[in-house]
Amino acid sequence: MNKPEPITAIAPAVPDTWAEVGKPHPHESARLHVLGEATYTDDIPELHGTLHAALGLSQKAHAKLRGIDLSAVSQAEGVVAVYTARDIPGMNDCGPIIHDDPILADGVVQYVGQPVFIVVADTHDHARRAARLAKIDYEELPAILTPQEAKRAQSFVLPPMHLARGDFRRAFEQAPHRLRGELHVGGQEQFYLEGQISYAVPKEDNGMHVWCSTQHPSEMQHVVAHALGLHSHHVTVECRRMGGGFGGKESQSALWAACAAISAARLKRPVKLRPDRDDDMLVTGKRHCFHYEYEIGYGDDGRILAAKVEMVSRAGFSADLSGPVATRAVCHFDNAYYLSDVDILAMCGKTNTQSNTAFRGFGGPQGAIAIEYVIDEIARNLSMDPLDVRRANFYGRSDEEGRNVTPYGQKVIDNVIHELVAQLEADSGYRERRAATRAFNAASPVLKKGIAITPVKFGISFNLPHLNQAGALVHVYVDGSVLVNHGGTEMGQGINTKVAQVVAHELGLDLSRVRATATDTSKVANTSATAASTGADLNGKAAQDAARRIRERLTGFASAHYQVAPEQVRFADNQVFFGDRAEPFPAFIRHAYNARVQLWSDGFYATPGLSWDAATMSGNPFYYFAYGAAVAEVVVDTLTGEWKLLRADALYDAGKSLNPAIDIGQVEGAFIQGMGWLTTEELWWNASGKLMTHAPSTYKIPAISDCPEQFHVKLFENVNPADSIHRSKAVGEPPLLLPFSVFFAIRDAIAAVGDYRHNPPLQAPATCEAILDAVEAVRAAP
Ligand code: MTE
Ligand code: MOS
Repeated sequence: MNKPEPITAIAPAVPDTWAEVGKPHPHESARLHVLGEATYTDDIPELHGTLHAALGLSQKAHAKLRGIDLSAVSQAEGVVAVYTARDIPGMNDCGPIIHDDPILADGVVQYVGQPVFIVVADTHDHARRAARLAKIDYEELPAILTPQEAKRAQSFVLPPMHLARGDFRRAFEQAPHRLRGELHVGGQEQFYLEGQISYAVPKEDNGMHVWCSTQHPSEMQHVVAHALGLHSHHVTVECRRMGGGFGGKESQSALWAACAAISAARLKRPVKLRPDRDDDMLVTGKRHCFHYEYEIGYGDDGRILAAKVEMVSRAGFSADLSGPVATRAVCHFDNAYYLSDVDILAMCGKTNTQSNTAFRGFGGPQGAIAIEYVIDEIARNLSMDPLDVRRANFYGRSDEEGRNVTPYGQKVIDNVIHELVAQLEADSGYRERRAATRAFNAASPVLKKGIAITPVKFGISFNLPHLNQAGALVHVYVDGSVLVNHGGTEMGQGINTKVAQVVAHELGLDLSRVRATATDTSKVANTSATAASTGADLNGKAAQDAARRIRERLTGFASAHYQVAPEQVRFADNQVFFGDRAEPFPAFIRHAYNARVQLWSDGFYATPGLSWDAATMSGNPFYYFAYGAAVAEVVVDTLTGEWKLLRADALYDAGKSLNPAIDIGQVEGAFIQGMGWLTTEELWWNASGKLMTHAPSTYKIPAISDCPEQFHVKLFENVNPADSIHRSKAVGEPPLLLPFSVFFAIRDAIAAVGDYRHNPPLQAPATCEAILDAVEAVRAAP
């Protein structure tokens, strides 16, 4: 072994806990985002010979394809090739679970916007112009457009799911009070700022490299391999970042990846496919709208004694992720409440519309909003403050208190909803402000104020246990710089920042010394989608595992080389400490390299203790629960239906946050996005089944002017009792449920019109029209 080199520094006091984790670091690409220097897929310099594709779309909701005349398309300026289903070398399918999702329609079209052919041209503009020139002969078939019609026709993409506990019927009949009702909650367009895009480049010997804006590179790899009739090892999929995904690029990036790859493989030239916003919205699936019918029995104290709900979603023409979305809706119908006797039926309505898919919350919001609607009604029926009804129904705090087992059989052992809501109630001045809205309304005939506080409990993990695994690769280079690669994808949520913080922490380095690279199927294999809010949890643990393996090897080397006990070797402050001596990390790494120590490692993580039986809908599907609550106060103009969010207060349980700055950003973003879903964002199909709201001109997402002037977002002080990455909790999706408070504040304001005696039949989204309808209904009530 080499003689020890002179030690360069005398050790300063070593910090007891190295603290790169938990610091409010800015997003790893924040500077690039702001400067416009962050590379998105469309910014990758195009290779010589690159061609551009566009898709020809169905104009009918349901029809047989009698004939497709593409002669005008082929002859259009700049067109190089046109492909239909027949030209696909492998499988014509891009369905993530069930193979009912053709890449290109074959024989029949099932929604307006379904891709029928690909046209490839020299420029993007030529391809798009040519795509409109097709003459398609349709034989129209009856179409089903709404989930209610689908339910009536028993037209489902999957068999219905049922979860029951106790004896609903008996409990309902014995309950002192009963209510029945219906609710419709609309869908939502993901509206990622960067649209869908794929750029496919053929490689030697049947290889294919696809740059794709996707949350699920491994799934894209599988779909492309199947479509081309190749193996996974032929196909590499890479994604440095997305300009937002929100669930819309979990499975639905596949169509674009497949079409670009099919064209590239046939032409042996690079092909890029980037739809414009209208096509993106016409083609891709969205959040499922849900229709509910419920029957509830309850006591004088507002406690729910029996709950039954039948929910049917608009799945669209194929299954896509509708099954898992429905499962999550079923598992979140309880939200933060113990339901003793409960009966939940969930159906995925097969409709002639876009195939709906993941969207932040993945069915969880759709499950929970139904029970919140019911609680809101119970409170009005009993003239109680809804907060008191919510409290009366919260899960118990402990085994002694009981009432702590979910309908699917998982025990809630980490419940902090009581403390969290109490803190928010006090900090927001909820009770005083509620009284103030009542006083205001008594003196204000047209403008009515409303206020509401709503809780969230959200299960973290994929319901399917096998998806809860992740891998990572950490390289320490000879100059002491560190590169981390993991299976997660960056969509703006800050996963790379968090994972790099974890690695920096393990090696005692500043975050600036660690760099994250593009997600790449040739680096980490068999990854899960970055979804279900598990990205940082899973990939953070995998990267920690990799970094720890390196640190252990380095510790072994240091202990032998510098003759100190392994316990005396520490990594902190960009140095390595050996007892009371220290050496800068880069110099130390050079020695380790010279001594032929392996300076890189892989890492792996699988969440322990999960189980799920899909047949009985029971098990322990979640590693832990994340909690939160919010208070919203609104003012509604009861003549126009216009409204404004005056103030919002949100408290969210991110456990021991890995990065409070990023987590607060996630809560703020999710809150406003969820508010858009429940208020202004309305998807509207005309009678022939064409989505008419396919651009921002007709589809209204929240803007900065819709954000409340007073927006107080805080993280709840907590430590995850589960052994999550540094005891943090996931933050990506659960805060999307916080703006339920906005919806119920609007409903509260409307109720003021009828002196709080009637339940406004407010449907979501609470557009100005929906608000006016509800106001009219309250006015007309006896
Ligand atoms: N935040 C931004 N900025 N952009 C996004 O696309 N997607 C959300 C959420 N936050 C999203 C986002 C969704 S749907 C999920 S599942 C999580 O981020 C995924 O990332 P995570 O698991 O790393 O939190
Ligand atoms: Mo998020 S809807 O799980 O991608």
